[in-house]
Amino acid sequence: MGVQQRPLAGTWPLGAQATGAGLQLEIAGLTLGYGRRTILREVSLAPLAGGHITALLGPNGAGKSTLLRGLAGLLPARGSVKLNGQEMIGRSLEARARHITYMPQSLPQGVALTVMEALVGALKASPPGAGGMAVSGRQAAEQALALLEQLGIAHLALVGLDRLSGGQRQMAGLAQALVRKPEVLLLDEPTSALDLRYQLQVMRLVQQLTREKGLVTVVVLHDLGLAARFADHIVVLGEGTLRAEGEPERTLTPGLLAEVYGVSGRVERCSLGHLQVMADAPLAG
Ligand SMILES: Nc1ncnc2c1ncn2[C@@H]1O[C@H](COP(=O)(O)OP(=O)(O)OP(=O)(O)O)[C@@H](O)[C@H]1O
Ligand SMILES: [Mg+2]
Repeated sequence: MGVQQRPLAGTWPLGAQATGAGLQLEIAGLTLGYGRRTILREVSLAPLAGGHITALLGPNGAGKSTLLRGLAGLLPARGSVKLNGQEMIGRSLEARARHITYMPQSLPQGVALTVMEALVGALKASPPGAGGMAVSGRQAAEQALALLEQLGIAHLALVGLDRLSGGQRQMAGLAQALVRKPEVLLLDEPTSALDLRYQLQVMRLVQQLTREKGLVTVVVLHDLGLAARFADHIVVLGEGTLRAEGEPERTLTPGLLAEVYGVSGRVERCSLGHLQVMADAPLAG
């Protein structure tokens, strides 16, 4: 059975025009940590281009979420993060939020809002400038509903966030990131709680929006098969540093599985030609 995907109009669900054409995010010498503890040291990446998905990979504790938080401006940072040549480090959270949205790995609990209320709130709180004019309450509701339809969760619009299943919460979190019409979209494990169908649907939608709007998209994934299939560029972190980056086919190798993840494994093409990554056994030590 093919996964149904609603066709996207040529505009954001919110009706604003694409803003991301020709975007570039440059990360150089980025050092991040918590208090005095440094987690990532001097990370420099090849420039991340608009219209491309970067999968951010690495073992538990490698610093993937820390990197996304740093890019979103939620942690003090040293080094440089430039969006189209403009330095983001040192700018206010609000100034960054005009350009960058971030979906955290775990969404806040105990929020007594419906999915729709949370989306309309996020939309009305978005600074004008990212998507253009401020929206009225009615427009916000229409745009929020259109986005929920695209995500296939319109039936959850009036359900309280605290009554959603884990996967439904993840979809609602994704909607909150997308509704802000970002130029840079940072998603921390957006598919970890999703069933097979929603995993594909979410990755296809993220890919489609990334291409159409020219977004710089960075997605943290543990599913290397999904990364191989949907990412244009792979970045692998391990032990506080960059371990590898490049095209999926060149980067996802048995050597990488052994060195970074500590498993023996295989990378093979399936009968449909997709790269499949199979972990066979943990390596001793
Ligand atoms: N709020 C925090 N305060 C102090 N240390 C933290 C905090 N959050 C994470 N760390 C530490 O930073 C390191 C990297 O954590 P991070 O959450 O970035 O890893 P990750 O790659 O996202 O892992 P996972 O795949 O498990 O989500 C870990 O050693 C962790 O203990
Ligand atoms: Mg994490």
